[in-house]
Amino acid sequence: MSTAVSDIGAVPSAWTRRHLLDVESLSAEEINIILDSAVAFKEASANCAQKIPLLAGRTCANLFFENSTRTRTSFSLAAKRLGADTIDFSSSSSSLSKGETFIDTAKNIEAMGVDAVIVRHHTPGTAQLLAENLKCTVINAGDGPHEHPTQGLLDILSIRERLGRIAGLTVALVGDIAHSRTARSNIWGLKKLGAHVIVCGPSTLVSKRWEELGVEVAYNLDAILPRCDVLNLLRIQFERQTTRPFPSVREYALLYAMDRERLARAKPEILIMAPGPINRGVEVTPDVADGPHSAILEQVTNGLAVRMAVLWLTLGPTSSEAVS
Ligand code: CP
Repeated sequence: MSTAVSDIGAVPSAWTRRHLLDVESLSAEEINIILDSAVAFKEASANCAQKIPLLAGRTCANLFFENSTRTRTSFSLAAKRLGADTIDFSSSSSSLSKGETFIDTAKNIEAMGVDAVIVRHHTPGTAQLLAENLKCTVINAGDGPHEHPTQGLLDILSIRERLGRIAGLTVALVGDIAHSRTARSNIWGLKKLGAHVIVCGPSTLVSKRWEELGVEVAYNLDAILPRCDVLNLLRIQFERQTTRPFPSVREYALLYAMDRERLARAKPEILIMAPGPINRGVEVTPDVADGPHSAILEQVTNGLAVRMAVLWLTLGPTSSEAVS
C-alpha cells in the first residue's frame, strides 16, 4: 500500500535523537526507522505531493566547507519539500577569512534562528564539535574520511529497494577505502542489518586493520566477484592523498574497474553502485555505469528521500507535540 501525506504523522517514539552525526552509534531499529520513513516520503512525493509541509516555519542551514553536488543540493531540496526555509552558507565568501573561528561562525548562523545545521568539513569530528557547541540540530554531511551517514543510509536503502533485503547479502566496497567516509558509514549500517561486507582495493588503500571492524579484506576483485551481490565502487580520492597509491590510473582500472568483462563473470542480479562523483573509465566503464545493473542515479533519488526522513525525524513533531 502506498503512503499519502496524511499517513505521515508524528515522529516514531523509538526515535529520540536530535542530531545525526554517524551511523556507528545508530541501532538497527533506528536505521530501519530512517529507511522506512524515507520510503514513506518517497511514496508520498510520488503521489504528487510536491510539498509535504511538516517543517513549515523551520530553518535549515547548509554549512559546506568542501565541494558538493549531490549532498548539498538534496539537503536543500529536502528541506524545501518539507516546507522549511533554507540558508546556503559559502565558506569562501564568509568572514572566516577575517579570522572568525569555525565555532563562532556556526554560532552566528544559529543566532539567526536556525533549527538545523547541515555541515560538511574536511576535518573528522566537526559535526560532533558543533553538536557540543550549538543548541540546534546538527547533521553530518561528511566529516573528512570519518563518516557520511546519509550517504551510507541512501546506499543501504537503494540495495534494499532493488534486492528486497540486506541480511545475508555480500556487499563489496571497492576502491579507495582508506580515505572513504562512505565506506565507514556503509560498513556500520550494513553490518548492523546483517550483511557480509568485503573491502577490496590496492593494499596501499586497504589496510588489513579493517578486519577489526568485522569486514573481510580482499585485494583481488576478480577472486571475490562471483560471491558479490552488490559492488559499491568508491572514487579514488586523489585530493586527500599525498603520494600516488598505485603506479598509474590505467593500472588501477585494469585491476579494479567494473567493466563488461567483469560483469559477465558476476552474479546475474549483481547491483552496481557508486556514491558519486564517478570517474568514468577509472572505477567503472560508461556502459556499466549507465547499464541495467547500475543503481547510481537511483541512489541520488533515494538521497532526497533519506534526507527528508532525517530532517523530519530530527526536527519534526513528536507524538506529544503533533496536532491531531
Ligand atoms: N556522494 C556525495 O557525497 O556527493 P557530493 O560530494 O557531490 O555531495
